[in-house]
Amino acid sequence: MIARLFLVFLFIQSTYGKKHTTINNSSHPWLTLSGQRPVVIARGGYSGVFLESSDMANSMAVSMSLDDVIIYCSLQMSKDGQGYCLSNLNLANTTNIANILPDAQKSYVVDGQPMQGYFAVDYTADQLYNVSLLQSEFSRPDVFDSMCIPISPVEEVAKSKPPGFWLNVPYSSFYAQHKLDTALYVQDILKTTAINYVSSPEIGFLKSLNGKVKTTQLIFMFNEATAVEPTTNQTYASLLEDLASIKLFASGILVPKEYIFPINDQLYLEPPTTLVLDAHKQGLKVFAYSFANDYVASYNYSYDPTAEYLQFIDNSQFAVDGFLTDFPSTASEAIECLAYNKNASRLVKGKPLVISHNGASGVYPGSTDLAYQQAVDDGADVIDCSVQMSKDGVAFCSDSADLASATTAMATFLSRAATIPEIQSAKGIFSFDLSWSEIQTLQRKLLKTSSNLVPNIKSLIASPFSNGPDMLRNPANKSKGKLVTLADFLEFSQQEKVLGILISIKNAAYLASNKGLSVTDAVATALTNASFDKQSTQKVLIQSEDSAVLSKFSNVLSYEKVLLIEEEVSDIPKAAVDELKKFAGAVNLRRASIIQVPNFFTSASTGIAEKMHEANISVYVSVFRNEFVSIPFDYFSDPILELATYILAPFGVDGVVTDYPSTATAYLRSPCSNPDPNVQLDYPIYPVQPGAMIKSLSGVGGSLGLPPAAAPAPTLTVADVVDPPLPPVSNSSSTTNVSASTTPNAAPAADAPPPSKNSETSNVANMGVNLIALLVVSLLSVVC
Ligand SMILES: *[C@@H]1O[C@H](CO)[C@@H](O)[C@H](O)[C@H]1NC(C)=O
Ligand SMILES: *[C@@H]1O[C@H](CO)[C@@H](O)[C@H](O)[C@H]1NC(C)=O
Ligand SMILES: *[C@@H]1O[C@H](CO)[C@@H](O)[C@H](O)[C@H]1NC(C)=O
Ligand SMILES: *[C@@H]1O[C@H](CO)[C@@H](O)[C@H](O)[C@H]1NC(C)=O
Ligand SMILES: *[C@@H]1O[C@H](CO)[C@@H](O)[C@H](O)[C@H]1NC(C)=O
Ligand SMILES: *[C@@H]1O[C@H](CO)[C@@H](O)[C@H](O)[C@H]1NC(C)=O
Ligand SMILES: *[C@@H]1O[C@H](CO)[C@@H](O)[C@H](O)[C@H]1NC(C)=O
Ligand SMILES: *[C@@H]1O[C@H](CO)[C@@H](O)[C@H](O)[C@H]1NC(C)=O
Ligand SMILES: *[C@@H]1O[C@H](CO)[C@@H](O)[C@H](O)[C@H]1NC(C)=O
Ligand SMILES: *[C@@H]1O[C@H](CO)[C@@H](O)[C@H](O)[C@H]1NC(C)=O
Ligand SMILES: *[C@@H]1O[C@H](CO)[C@@H](O)[C@H](O)[C@H]1NC(C)=O
Ligand SMILES: *[C@@H]1O[C@H](CO)[C@@H](O)[C@H](O)[C@H]1NC(C)=O
Repeated sequence: MIARLFLVFLFIQSTYGKKHTTINNSSHPWLTLSGQRPVVIARGGYSGVFLESSDMANSMAVSMSLDDVIIYCSLQMSKDGQGYCLSNLNLANTTNIANILPDAQKSYVVDGQPMQGYFAVDYTADQLYNVSLLQSEFSRPDVFDSMCIPISPVEEVAKSKPPGFWLNVPYSSFYAQHKLDTALYVQDILKTTAINYVSSPEIGFLKSLNGKVKTTQLIFMFNEATAVEPTTNQTYASLLEDLASIKLFASGILVPKEYIFPINDQLYLEPPTTLVLDAHKQGLKVFAYSFANDYVASYNYSYDPTAEYLQFIDNSQFAVDGFLTDFPSTASEAIECLAYNKNASRLVKGKPLVISHNGASGVYPGSTDLAYQQAVDDGADVIDCSVQMSKDGVAFCSDSADLASATTAMATFLSRAATIPEIQSAKGIFSFDLSWSEIQTLQRKLLKTSSNLVPNIKSLIASPFSNGPDMLRNPANKSKGKLVTLADFLEFSQQEKVLGILISIKNAAYLASNKGLSVTDAVATALTNASFDKQSTQKVLIQSEDSAVLSKFSNVLSYEKVLLIEEEVSDIPKAAVDELKKFAGAVNLRRASIIQVPNFFTSASTGIAEKMHEANISVYVSVFRNEFVSIPFDYFSDPILELATYILAPFGVDGVVTDYPSTATAYLRSPCSNPDPNVQLDYPIYPVQPGAMIKSLSGVGGSLGLPPAAAPAPTLTVADVVDPPLPPVSNSSSTTNVSASTTPNAAPAADAPPPSKNSETSNVANMGVNLIALLVVSLLSVVC
């Protein structure tokens, strides 16, 4: 224990002073009670990734957040009066107590409800000494479970001297029934330890401390609205109506975030209540709780956790005084990097390019007029059209030639279903078997995170995600929006003056030899008709997996040719790069072809991005999504941290392809995205170092119980890169002569996510990782 504390202390010392933020020097006023920046309160330290209130969680919260971060601890007590930091009264799922002390479980009535399980109050501190923490949230890594990390006594957390310390006392009357006086306990601790805030949902407890604490602020915590406050027997909802009387015993309130922005049954946000304004009028600070990057919040936020924080502090009416969160780095980033930047312009427009993926397909059904308009409104530099052909030769935009999965085609045109192995193994209803007027009758189907994301996470994340509902996207607008023709798309992009367009061409060889359709001619004609070949103001990117398709456009030098490499690859040897350079100026790679992700943790860089840049080939990366299930663990479920890692050195990619352009542009508008090493940033967002987290963990701790990594991704060969010329256009339906035009292996869709999760941020985070390694060393002596 002593060695451990020493290391943590050293660590905090070494990062202290490296922190960057001046607490009072914001360039804009905050609508908080004090006018100062809102505070970040780390619930149980960095509990979104590490075990609650463990040294690791607390140290990581301190090293990865604003420098005035407050460490929050929820008090539980042993039979002999030792206090512990643990939010759950019942230890059944959050510790291994059932193995260590397999005595009969107990049953108590807590706040009027019966509860069965293991309670700290039934054991002495000696008995609890060998109990260690377990991860109980399915969406968080459980690799720390095997490290026998003990539950943390309150004094030890306080002794590590975090910048701020908050003690929450949620079960005062429960402990009183067990002859334990939590108010006395707090007064005792205060004799030796600074506590900045003490909170409780019980009025009696707070009143008993009133006048007995000097520098500590007392905060009244509201539980859910219908719950009953034990001292007064009133519901929390009714207590909210008399804020003046709360001011008599507390200097602030801690409320569920829904008290401020209510969420309706459909999971959409309602307009804000007047709570923050009312409380500020009474001189009460307002802190909001239950923020986490891996909770499904309102659809209004489009799964971007920073959008949620901004709603509470950058809404022109009020700002909360602080956030209680499991992911303090994301809250810090929202406060220091993103707030008050909605109207800022990009540091360098178009570097890197923000390229939409079927428009803003995270917000509206992909490839529709609404999705394209949203992408433009969200500041995308380049909007994309994946060209498909109707039977009667109309070129239009749609992610896939198979319309069955994204539209209601199955219901209307079941008889046209076909199996076409050259295109996909599953049966589908293909655009080239329907006329354009038939296609226009189809409605788009409900959007969700592609279900192929979920199996990838299954091995690490148990039931709730594998069997639970998919993560829907903006379901209120599920069938809104129309598919657009390529000609309409081109006209729209000219009207909107977007920086560029990306035209993606698939199945050209199949369409030519089997359906008598030339998609390359259709594209070339449409571009020429719209004069894209005779201008240089708007970039034109032509993308295909088929080198023959790209070669068809070699006559127009101003078009940038992008080779799509749909399958995950681990290397592209020099010979293949040289070959590729003959017909393409850019590649579009999967995220995992740049940073490998064998098991939801990143493992290593492939070096492909660097190699491409050496050869002057631009690198675009597909596909970034906000949903935490598609983000490796290393990025702490933070889509901006993942984007920053690819955008900053050493990868410095030239474009990011995303379902959510607004998240990428929010990051790129922020002063925190400035890559100039000479510029002193208030709060740098450090890129993650591939593999740093998992290496430091397994290097010391041995087996982490990770699922076996999938077979390594193949190397791209020259033969994979170069395809035979396109066949002549003919109506023959014989499939024997179709050149397999593209990828060597049956490639997974380019937008399929990498199979796993990762770790974290470099510099600061590196230190964090080294800290973990050190901690692991010192923990090896502990037996659990
Ligand atoms: C910040 O400003 C407030 C008043 O605006 C002042 O009381 C406080 O001491 C300042 N803090 C720091 C760290 O400068
Ligand atoms: C704080 O703000 C003042 C006035 O805006 C400025 O002169 C000073 O340089 C700032 N200090 C830091 C450390 O940024
Ligand atoms: C513990 O986990 C089980 C299974 O997931 C769940 O049914 C139970 O409600 C949990 N208990 C507590 C106290 O969270
Ligand atoms: C804790 O574990 C150690 C080592 O296994 C053992 O000697 C000790 O008796 C245990 N303590 C309790 C209270 O179980
Ligand atoms: C609270 O209500 C319960 C029954 O609903 C009653 O037994 C109890 O005496 C009440 N306590 C107070 C403090 O009013
Ligand atoms: C949330 O989204 C819904 C649906 O688009 C919209 O009606 C509502 O105004 C939004 N709420 C807020 C607070 O912006
Ligand atoms: C941002 O722009 C909008 C629309 O142009 C404007 O209404 C708003 O006042 C601007 N906000 C700031 C902080 O400048
Ligand atoms: C999306 O849905 C919301 C809520 O029903 C509605 O207010 C909004 O108008 C819809 N947007 C479009 C473009 O239909
Ligand atoms: C050619 O462009 C005009 C508008 O400039 C458009 O109305 C027409 O549909 C286009 N024709 C084709 C074949 O794309
Ligand atoms: C890359 O481009 C730069 C400048 O355009 C040129 O100096 C360099 O030789 C090029 N390198 C390769 C490998 O083509
Ligand atoms: C296949 O196509 C090639 C040219 O595209 C042609 O030379 C060859 O005769 C065709 N074979 C058959 C069996 O149709
Ligand atoms: C293919 O067949 C259609 C009618 O079946 C015809 O209109 C078209 O001209 C043919 N295309 C070619 C290239 O033979």
